[in-house]
Amino acid sequence: MPDMEGFKVAKDYHIDTEFANNSKGFYVKGANNLDWGMKKHLANIFDKNSGNTVMFAFDHGYFMGSVSGLERLDLLIPKLMDYVDVLMCTRGALRTCVPPVGQKSIALRVSSGSSMLNNDLSHEVVAVDIQDTIRCNADCMAVQGFIGADGQLQSINNLSKVINEGIRYSIPTMGVVAVGKDMERTDRYFKLATRILAEIGVNIVKTYYCENFEEVAAACPVPIVVAGGKKLPENEALTMAYHAISEGAHGLDMGRNIFQSLHPVEMAEAIGKIVHEKATDKQAYEFYQDAIHK
Ligand code: R5P
Repeated sequence: MPDMEGFKVAKDYHIDTEFANNSKGFYVKGANNLDWGMKKHLANIFDKNSGNTVMFAFDHGYFMGSVSGLERLDLLIPKLMDYVDVLMCTRGALRTCVPPVGQKSIALRVSSGSSMLNNDLSHEVVAVDIQDTIRCNADCMAVQGFIGADGQLQSINNLSKVINEGIRYSIPTMGVVAVGKDMERTDRYFKLATRILAEIGVNIVKTYYCENFEEVAAACPVPIVVAGGKKLPENEALTMAYHAISEGAHGLDMGRNIFQSLHPVEMAEAIGKIVHEKATDKQAYEFYQDAIHK
């Protein structure tokens, strides 16, 4: 490992220059050199026309139990699933509440080990093995990455094991940047964490929107999907989504800003307008308003 002294702060992100290894090949960022199976799973996640994805995250129960808006997955998911591209969930939710019909892609949460009752959520294990991931027909495996947290070594170990198994069976891994209570939500932190996860070998990074997001996205050689975070008023959530997509994200992986909205279906559709149809936040919010007043 190089001596940390004398390292210069990274600054040449070439944010106006497109990612260089996709120009004549496969459209998903950083996936041009992968094998057919990996590409097929990534193509199930990322739309071939827009290159982007709307993931609906409802895996919160894996450490929070029942949260507001997710009390009855059996009622919510059938209502919403036609309006998103990917369902991000636990295998428990998948087997009990997700109808095994249609073409929805699955991002399966495979790490676990904490609950809201812990002071430190950063200690996880790999809870779902590759065989069960295959049985669930998942298109990617989601693993929490606690960079800079107490459980960093354990979580990098989890990520590495899942990535190794994923490569063996051609199933992509999505690294989920976890922001612990002592960590700052700065671009400096997100540049560090997203890049570390990509260099470890994940095929997709899930992280948060932040200042200088263009630089975070430019320096990450795989697609970034942005988490929604805490519930915001719909217009603000759409503005965040618009900024994320216009500054280099390849999708949203949104939970509370969809399922805690009074109109989750219309909110999911409005997000889709930004993600797939290049709508502005203003246009998407107009769409949302029109849809809820129909
Ligand atoms: C990630 O670790 C969580 O389990 C959720 O998937 C994630 O936080 C996205 O949901 P939200 O948009 O509610 O933050």
